[in-house]
Amino acid sequence: MTVMTGLVGHPVSHSRSPLIHEYWLKEHQIRGCYNLVDLPCETLQHGLEKLRSDDYRGFNVTVPHKVSVMRLCDHVDDLAQSIGAVNTVTISGGQLYGTNTDSFGFVQNIKELIPTFDFSIGPALVLGAGGAARAVVQGLLEQDVPEIILCNRTLSKATEFLKLFNNTNELRIIDWQLRADYQVLSRINLLINTTSLGMTGKSSLDMDITHLHRDALVNDIVYAPLMTPLLQKAQMQGNRIVTGIGMLLHQARPAFQKWHGILPEVTTELRNLVSK
Ligand code: ATR
Repeated sequence: MTVMTGLVGHPVSHSRSPLIHEYWLKEHQIRGCYNLVDLPCETLQHGLEKLRSDDYRGFNVTVPHKVSVMRLCDHVDDLAQSIGAVNTVTISGGQLYGTNTDSFGFVQNIKELIPTFDFSIGPALVLGAGGAARAVVQGLLEQDVPEIILCNRTLSKATEFLKLFNNTNELRIIDWQLRADYQVLSRINLLINTTSLGMTGKSSLDMDITHLHRDALVNDIVYAPLMTPLLQKAQMQGNRIVTGIGMLLHQARPAFQKWHGILPEVTTELRNLVSK
């Protein structure tokens, strides 16, 4: 029997997820497939019914369905509830179980590339307050980051964000204009860009990072291009950097494990394959 899995989104044709899952299926000699399932919003419910009746084992969820898929799942676990989005669904006994593996992906990417990095020794500055930022903040809280400074162009969205995390003590907001401020940059241990700025076709992030402490780590979750202007600048001035592609690779691991019972590894060969 072929185990059927895939990616639900709109559009999906650009996705690198099939490369990742097909690599692991081959490596572990599992007869399975990972299909791209393009579902515009109005067809999502019907499309998911079809996956259920076609005996899919599960599927990943991407833009624009990560939030709307929640109400179509029969069960959504606590982690996905607190992130406010589902990116992985497992189908068992005809029921849809939703979870979210993005916070795991974010943390594991940094741990893989900088194993000695200690999240708990200082504040983190998070740029952006969208869905990706929610997964990142969830990961930072799990790693005992003592202070998380959220900085978003639209202040009201940052305020909403704070409410989602129940105004947790670790989180505070600063104005977008203060992103390069000395008082902020000189104290932080970690800087993460979760906005779409720097992505191929988008404008780059306009931010002077000269005040950043030399020991601070810079992570961009944008992975196309791999070396964003922010990461280039950080590397040039001697800061450690972590590219975004590993978050995509690592978020796929628990999904694969849920569907196939094996937690696969991110090998150098796979990293190179997906980074092309
Ligand atoms: P995702 O789910 O990938 O995080 P999103 O929810 O659309 O996507 O969030 C995109 C983030 O990029 C938001 O924080 C957005 O800021 P606003 O809340 O002000 O829209 C940020 N962003 C996008 N374009 C931006 C720009 N030109 N300048 C600053 N921030 C930008």
